[in-house]
Amino acid sequence: MPVLQDVTNASRKGYWIVASFAVIGFAHLAVGNATHAQHLVHLVFGAAYLLPIVAAAAWLGARPALLLSAASAATYLLHARTISGNGPMGIANALVLSAVFLFVGVVSATLVATADRERRVRLDGERTAQRDAMMQALASLSGALRQRDDGTAAHCERVACIAARVGATLGLSEERLQVLHLAALVHDVGKTGVRDDVLLKPGELTAEERGRIERHTVLAAEILRPIRGAEEIAEIVLCHHECPDGSGYPRRLHGNQIPALAGVLRVADVFAALVEPRAYKVPMRPEEAVSRMSSLQGRLDPDGFAALQRLVAADTPGDLA
Ligand SMILES: [Fe+2]
Repeated sequence: MPVLQDVTNASRKGYWIVASFAVIGFAHLAVGNATHAQHLVHLVFGAAYLLPIVAAAAWLGARPALLLSAASAATYLLHARTISGNGPMGIANALVLSAVFLFVGVVSATLVATADRERRVRLDGERTAQRDAMMQALASLSGALRQRDDGTAAHCERVACIAARVGATLGLSEERLQVLHLAALVHDVGKTGVRDDVLLKPGELTAEERGRIERHTVLAAEILRPIRGAEEIAEIVLCHHECPDGSGYPRRLHGNQIPALAGVLRVADVFAALVEPRAYKVPMRPEEAVSRMSSLQGRLDPDGFAALQRLVAADTPGDLA
């Protein structure tokens, strides 16, 4: 919406600039210079051509300013014919003013282009600094998770690798893959808020304990949201246990309500949980894990799962495990 508003504002400003150029041009040509008073008014309108040029540079950028300065110079040169009766001085006057319009157009366009370039460099720098700060914060969280529970941290790293490969198979852009990789690295950071006797319990969990474990998605989102630039990652992590059929948690979202990257993350998470060694189960081979996941119809993102199947079918034995 703001982009549309910017375009509307720019169109409105463009309209006013063209309109003022037309009015100034018309008034300038209409006022003759037969008398001294007329000549004075004529000079004022002649100088007024500079206003739309400067306004175009400030509001619309370098190219419109250059175009307008060329149009002003051309109009003024045409006008030189009408004042040729004033002799060589009048013509020289018109030529000089035309040159002034072009000069002001070039200077203001250069100034605007320089300011734009500096603003872009500054914004790029700010974005990079914010991204670096966000990455450092996520790395610290990942480190804290490793201190708390080495197994969960190792699981997150495995999920991050698998998710990135599934995402690449889906043809995600480099930028989307980075977001997915980062979200996967911290997707279980909320488990730092789960009590040890529940988090590390080797046996089956009670319903109350399962509820505590399931809160790790909400806890993770609460930890991640305050980090500037990690808002989308927080949302993906919040949704990494949601299922397309609405049977997931914490919000029981359906299909398209679930962020696409959360769907891919979930596929990688389930696969990693099946193929990695746990105290209470033997790790599955990738083919076994995929065949087990086939039975989770409706509970996995179909595109993500299809990509994982392709990956496992093409993978060198054991590489994904
Ligand atoms: Fe999780």
